[in-house]
Amino acid sequence: MHEIVINCSDKAGKYEQVIPQIVSLIETETNEVANYANIAAALRDCFGFFWVGFYFVDSPSELVLGPFQGPVACTRISYGKGVCGSAWEQKNTIVVEDVEKFPGHIACSSLSRSEIVVPLIDREGFVFGVLDIDSEKVGTFDEIDKKFLEILVNRICKSLNK
Ligand code: SME
Repeated sequence: MHEIVINCSDKAGKYEQVIPQIVSLIETETNEVANYANIAAALRDCFGFFWVGFYFVDSPSELVLGPFQGPVACTRISYGKGVCGSAWEQKNTIVVEDVEKFPGHIACSSLSRSEIVVPLIDREGFVFGVLDIDSEKVGTFDEIDKKFLEILVNRICKSLNK
């Protein structure tokens, strides 16, 4: 049985506890869909985020929805559009304190108020997807989330041999 165990209340401590558990979870399985699904579930469970999921590059101009946890979401996002398409274009993490202040934000749910998107970059430097996390509160994500989610994504890419 796999269970994520967290006994820390501060955010950095939670990330420090959950990341190695996620890594060990995905290292024992080679199926990518199963691994991305469990990563989304572990993050949502641990932090109570509103929506956690992946979008993957499906063509030179479009992302398509991958495994996620949370309400039904937009299926396709164009390159350079919304927070996800912008993180893909910029090859950088984007932290959105208030989605209403991000021009072009794509509202999959009217309940989403803040967001972080971390690109998944392969060993050749190409973005092959993004990790997107949404919150129902303004200002949920900061430099701590950015730091630890980038560490997590880096470990995921290594584990999945990207
Ligand atoms: N808000 C995202 C779209 C994806 S949903 O949040 C799940 C964006 O602007 O790219």
